[in-house]
Amino acid sequence: MNLPARVRIIDVGPRDGLQNEKQPVPTEVKIGLVQRLQDAGLAEIEATSYVSPKWVPQMADNHAVMAGIVRQPGVRYSVLTPNLQGWEAAVQDRPDEIVVFGAASEAFSQKNINCSIAESIERFAPVVAAARAAGVAVRGAMSCTVGCPYEGDIAPQQVAYLAGLMKGIGVERVDVADTIGVGTPRKVQRALEAALTHYGIDQVSGHFHDTYGQALTNTLAALQLGVWNFQASVAGLGGCPYAKGATGNVATEDVVFMLHGMGIDTGISLDRLVDAGAYISDFLGRPVQSRAGLALLRKRAG
Ligand code: HMG
Ligand code: MG
Repeated sequence: MNLPARVRIIDVGPRDGLQNEKQPVPTEVKIGLVQRLQDAGLAEIEATSYVSPKWVPQMADNHAVMAGIVRQPGVRYSVLTPNLQGWEAAVQDRPDEIVVFGAASEAFSQKNINCSIAESIERFAPVVAAARAAGVAVRGAMSCTVGCPYEGDIAPQQVAYLAGLMKGIGVERVDVADTIGVGTPRKVQRALEAALTHYGIDQVSGHFHDTYGQALTNTLAALQLGVWNFQASVAGLGGCPYAKGATGNVATEDVVFMLHGMGIDTGISLDRLVDAGAYISDFLGRPVQSRAGLALLRKRAG
C-alpha cells in the first residue's frame, strides 16, 4: 500500500458547516471560527458563499465575513460562486479561490442550483474564465457522485461526464462529494477513479458527508488510491439545505486524528483544532459532533 506522506485539508466548516444552520450565527462568530482554524494550522478554509440569500440566508453576510477575516499569509480562502452574479460579488472581497458547484445527478442540479447539468456548465464557464483572468484559482465541487436523494445510485460514468465538462471549461481541480453520505469504500473509489480519468491525482479531492458513518472509512479508501486532498468540517458541522436528512461532513478532528495516528503529516495542530470545534459547538449549544474532538475534550477535563 502506497499511502501519501502528507495530506492537505480544506476546512469547509464556515461554509458547508454553517450554511444549513437554522439559528442565525453572528458574523463575528463566523470570523472567530475562521481565526481559530487558521490558528490551528489549516492552510485552506472555505469561508462563505455568494448565493441567493433567499435560498441560503445563513450566507447572506458573505461580504462582512470576508472583510472581517484577518488574513494569514499562506492561507488560501475559498468561496462558492454559482454564477456571474456570485463572482461579481465575490471578487470585491479578493478570495484566493472560487468554487463552482455542479452535480453528477440531474435532479440534484435542479434542486440545488435551479438548472440542468448542461446549463450549469454554461453558467460556470464565464465565471471560470473571469476568475482565471483575474488570477484567482478555480475549484469545482461535484455533488452526488455516489448517490442522490432524488435519483438513488449514481453511476461512475456520470461523475466522469461532469469531471470532463469541468475540465473543458478550465476548472483546475475537483472535489468528489458524497453529499448524502451513502458511499462505501469501493463505491467512493469508483467515483474518485472516474474523476481521475480527467484530472491528475493532485487535483482530485474527497468531500465526504458522514450521514451513515462511512466518511472516515471512505477517507482511508481514497488514501489507498493516492488521493491526498480532502475537505472536512470542524466539529462535524453541516449539511446541504437541498439534501434533506444528510448530516455534516466528516469531522476535521477525526480525520486529523486518524492521519496523525498513521504517521501522515497534515500541518495541523489537533489540540488547537479541538479548541475551534469546542468554540463553534459551544456557540451552537450542542456537543461537538467529532468523536475524537469529544474524547480529547473529556480527557482535558480529566
Ligand atoms: P435562480 O433563481 O435560478 O437565479 O437561482 P436567477 O439568476 O434566476 O435569479 C433569481 C434571483 O436570485 C434574483 O433575485 C437574483 O438577483 C438572485 P430577485 O430578483 O428574485 O430578488 N441571485 C443571486 N443572489 C445572490 N447571489 C447570487 C445570485 N444569483 C442569483 N449569486 C442560484 C440560482 C444558484 C443563485 C440559486 O439556486 C441558489 O442560490 N442556490 C443555492 C445553492 C447553495 O448554496 N447550495 C448549497 C451549497 S452546495 C453544497 O453544499 C454541496 C457541496 O458541499 C458539495 C457536496 O457536499 O455535495 C459544495
Ligand atoms: Mg458538502
